[in-house]
Amino acid sequence: MNYRDIDWNQLWLDEQQRKSWTSKKKKDWDSRAASFAKRVADSDFSTLFIKMMQPDPAWTVLDVGCGPGTLAVPLAEQGLQVTALDSSEGMLAQLQLRQQEAGVTTITPVHGSWTDSWHDLGLKKHDVALAARSLAVTDLRQGLEKLNRWASQKVFVVDRVGPGPFDPDLFHAIGRDFQPGPDFVFTLNILLQMGITPRLDYLQFDQKRTYGNEQEAREAVAWMVDDCTDLERQKLRGYVAERLRENNDGTVTFTRTTPVKWAFISWDV
Ligand SMILES: C[S@@+](CC[C@H](N)C(=O)[O-])C[C@H]1O[C@@H](n2cnc3c(N)ncnc32)[C@H](O)[C@@H]1O
Repeated sequence: MNYRDIDWNQLWLDEQQRKSWTSKKKKDWDSRAASFAKRVADSDFSTLFIKMMQPDPAWTVLDVGCGPGTLAVPLAEQGLQVTALDSSEGMLAQLQLRQQEAGVTTITPVHGSWTDSWHDLGLKKHDVALAARSLAVTDLRQGLEKLNRWASQKVFVVDRVGPGPFDPDLFHAIGRDFQPGPDFVFTLNILLQMGITPRLDYLQFDQKRTYGNEQEAREAVAWMVDDCTDLERQKLRGYVAERLRENNDGTVTFTRTTPVKWAFISWDV
């Protein structure tokens, strides 16, 4: 077998079928928008991303699957012009709130999807295209080709490493199997097969997170499991309680065994 014959895109499609979690639909993102925005605000994801991105204030940026403005808002705070595209109105509403709070005026929100014609949405080619934790595509190669076409200088992609934000121990604790689905290994290999030689780095987060109280800690992990039964919810409660330590100031610290790690992939166009 010659490794060059491997069809990484087909492998990606096959692996997608095996994953234990369901890809979220527009209505799921709408209903999760406020809680997602809160989790993002409590995390240092955007700080780490921007440190690695080293943005040039002169760049125009197309942020695909921008969510509540996780990156769009801090980039606009640095003076960049950002087109923030998302298919969830709920997320765009959160973006608007954050944009107002930050007092930034250089973000253009666009309601649209990976699969829409971006020409029809009125988009122009940007200096930079990025998709952070938002490769919600049905065909990865097509998605990556599209990002590449819409950037004139650079592309940045953040993709899962292994389970990504999911906690496999939590799945096991509630009695569910956990299959992470395809991760950055597929993305890298598809890019290489497209003739692109990407740079690779990692964003790694602490295994410990501190929350105001036990309920907050529970809510911060409960999003991982769809359609929880009462028994599963009870087990989830036990799993979280077991891993909590109370701090002197009344807050609680939750420790997970698997750290959250993301692949930071970039290339010059
Ligand atoms: C995990 S969030 C990531 C948000 C942000 N990029 C971040 O890193 O915090 C994924 C985002 O992709 C959006 N999304 C999902 N499917 C999409 C699609 N087909 N087209 C455009 N956006 C999509 C969701 O609405 C959500 O805002």
